[in-house]
Amino acid sequence: MKDDWRISNRVTQIQKSAIHEMTRLSKEVEDVAFLSWAKPTADTPEHIKEAAISAVKSGIVGGYSESSGLLELRERIVEKLKRDNCVNANVSQILVTVGAIEGLFAAVMALIDPGDEVILPSPTYSTHIRQVIIASGKPVLVPTIEEEGFILDVDGIKNAINSRTKAIMYCSPSNPTGTVFAEDQLCQLAEIALENNLMVITDEAYEYFTYDGHRHFSIASIPKMRKNVVSCYTFTKTYAMTGWRIGYLHAVEELIPQINKAHIPLAICAPVVSQYAALAALKGSQECVATFRKHYLSTRNLMCERLDRLNYVFEYKKPGGSYLMFPKILLEDGKDSATFCKKLLKEARVSTTPGVAFGPKGEGHLRLSFCVSEEEINKAFDRMEAYFR
Ligand SMILES: Cc1ncc(COP(=O)(O)O)c(C=O)c1O
Repeated sequence: MKDDWRISNRVTQIQKSAIHEMTRLSKEVEDVAFLSWAKPTADTPEHIKEAAISAVKSGIVGGYSESSGLLELRERIVEKLKRDNCVNANVSQILVTVGAIEGLFAAVMALIDPGDEVILPSPTYSTHIRQVIIASGKPVLVPTIEEEGFILDVDGIKNAINSRTKAIMYCSPSNPTGTVFAEDQLCQLAEIALENNLMVITDEAYEYFTYDGHRHFSIASIPKMRKNVVSCYTFTKTYAMTGWRIGYLHAVEELIPQINKAHIPLAICAPVVSQYAALAALKGSQECVATFRKHYLSTRNLMCERLDRLNYVFEYKKPGGSYLMFPKILLEDGKDSATFCKKLLKEARVSTTPGVAFGPKGEGHLRLSFCVSEEEINKAFDRMEAYFR
């Protein structure tokens, strides 16, 4: 393929997404029990949809906005960052992006030169790894400590730093493990970043979904990290707005025009209709977020109960956040998670994601998503109980 089409080395290195592959295969299975997507299954709340419809009808969404996003939206984001993230920002420090993904990619493109190393705690969201590769950077995967619930290995990160290291990139709460990195660990990480003059790129997509007293902590709230952090956020998970493609990033004022140089060729600006929808999301009642969180807490508990009954097949750490969990497969044929998942799909009609999709440290695991209905979880686990009996 590469020789025929002269595809770039950057793209050739990237393997097909196991997540999309499982989705494709799942479509071929009738009445599949689907636990493989990190996508909210609820629809976007009505008041957000109404605001978008009325913006469309008023004729204000047909043109581009400022590349950094509508001023009123950035003003609301500034308020939100102060209220929920303890981050003191101003509108010049905000860039509205096409979901968190485009914000992360614009940040990576603005910060990473070919050959620069980026440390990623592993397992991690595979898109982060791909973004570093597309920027011709080198992802350096540092295993998290699974026995302690996939927490950061701060010493491991320290030991991985060398003269080529440019940044540390992580998501917390984590996709795929559901781990919420604790404030004290993130403070230690901040010290390491400052000592070594590294940038930290954060993905805080699941910031509102934490449980059992785990608290989301934004590393940008540490005042001396001002110049060293680019924080990426999204409306996707918080307000069930996956398809609207709207998110934003926060960074020090001097960095925004530089990141904007990458943002403009990628997007020009975020979709304007979605910016109005996002504005309504921030202006409106936050009750919907509480409702989603409550639902995920109860589906997480149900999934853990059902996993307990399969304790001869899976061993798991209860996730403190996100709507994902990452059990280890105890069976011998679980060592190859891709084959295991395909077999589970074909023979038990349960769709999951192979752990290897999240880096080599994820091999031997499955990612299960609990942003589904209780019926879907029960359907999947009834089938797995019958299958593994
Ligand atoms: C950790 C993480 N970041 C980002 C995204 C995508 O966010 P967005 O839709 O805002 O681009 C996902 C989606 O699954 C995710 O799990």
